[in-house]
Amino acid sequence: MNKALRKAIIAGNWKMNKNRKEAAELIEALKPIAADKTCGVVICVPFTNLETALNLTEGTNIEVGAENVHFEKSGAFTGEISADMLTEMGVKYVIIGHSERRQYFGETDATVCKRTMAALEAGMTVILCVGETLEERELGITEEIVAKQVKVALSKACEKCVKNVVIAYEPVWAIGTGKTATADQAEEVCAFIRKTVAGMFGQDVADGMTIQYGGSMNEKNCAELLAKENIDGGLIGGASLVAEKFGVLLEEASK
Ligand code: PGA
Repeated sequence: MNKALRKAIIAGNWKMNKNRKEAAELIEALKPIAADKTCGVVICVPFTNLETALNLTEGTNIEVGAENVHFEKSGAFTGEISADMLTEMGVKYVIIGHSERRQYFGETDATVCKRTMAALEAGMTVILCVGETLEERELGITEEIVAKQVKVALSKACEKCVKNVVIAYEPVWAIGTGKTATADQAEEVCAFIRKTVAGMFGQDVADGMTIQYGGSMNEKNCAELLAKENIDGGLIGGASLVAEKFGVLLEEASK
């Protein structure tokens, strides 16, 4: 395995934060900070900020993502947004299966699979989130849970389209809690995810896949996490809302 062969990607997950004015200010502050970085730079923003983000990042190295997508192409699905609607705007990335969607909005492994396929078929890059709850970790079933999430989500994906999947390992107990997994804990599960992907799609696909860590990753703890062999970047919530903090993560991932 060679970490250097994989693309490190730092993706911000703004969640339900920033109005249009605030979004524009953050992106303007981010542009010069991101400009010389070699890692992938993605900001996943609320639907209402996609247009602003796409306009302001045109011609820069910042890519734009959505935070969810519906699995049907069109139709009577009030309040939903399709993958074609996103790609038509120019949106390249989409977060799927975030634990907040699983926890509060009834997302299941089966719907994560459907959304993943819809996004891949539309040519998007999927940031697929997986991770165990504290209870599951304490029961010693982290690997079973994560393996099931990965296997079901990617059960219909082909070897070719899975190259457009990034997996984010986000232990639920570490999200927004200030409680980060230790670098060793994160590395252990990210390595396990890679092994699971290798079992499904072969070693080459697994070796080339970007696997991120997410969950209270910030400017202070990122160096240790990103130094690990199987951690190729991060999905960043809180620290992505402040340009200078996000900049430290970009710097570290570009080393
Ligand atoms: P956090 O969120 O960095 O604020 O913990 C990460 C995420 O939910 O993607």
